[in-house]
Amino acid sequence: MNDYLEEFSSLTRELLDSDPVRRMGTWRHHGPVTTLDHSLFVAYCSYRAARMLRLDVHAAARGALLHDLYLYDPRDKSAHPGNQCLDHPRAAARNAGRLTRLTDKERNIILSHMWPLGGALPRSREAWLVDLVDTVCAGLELTRVYRPERLRRKLGVEPLIAA
Ligand SMILES: [Fe+2]
Ligand SMILES: [Fe+2]
Repeated sequence: MNDYLEEFSSLTRELLDSDPVRRMGTWRHHGPVTTLDHSLFVAYCSYRAARMLRLDVHAAARGALLHDLYLYDPRDKSAHPGNQCLDHPRAAARNAGRLTRLTDKERNIILSHMWPLGGALPRSREAWLVDLVDTVCAGLELTRVYRPERLRRKLGVEPLIAA
């Protein structure tokens, strides 16, 4: 592991080893990419960008890792109230709040990550950053330019498949 991966791993290890985060490996988010692999990709890229820009690496890494912790099949219309675009950041914030003590900044990173399509307005530089990184990572995943499962293997995170 390089120094950046080591630091990212130490900032997020408690979450990486948790059942809710590993359970994101159950569902596909973008094409063949699971929600777990997507979240790890967004979290690591947000951490690297935050480190480069001298922002809050802790909030960027944790908020990004939990931004899609909605824990249901997005294709199952009965799993959420209505519009997935609006519903999933709220479900993710609720699940993340049960998993760990979220700061206001981390909670806003999760709630605002779909802006301007829906949800809250980003209220920190870290929230703006994660919003942008999420969009870029989604594009790289959908076009198959990058396959983020390699990152998960390097970090030693095993998906947990929900029944
Ligand atoms: Fe999302
Ligand atoms: Fe996302």
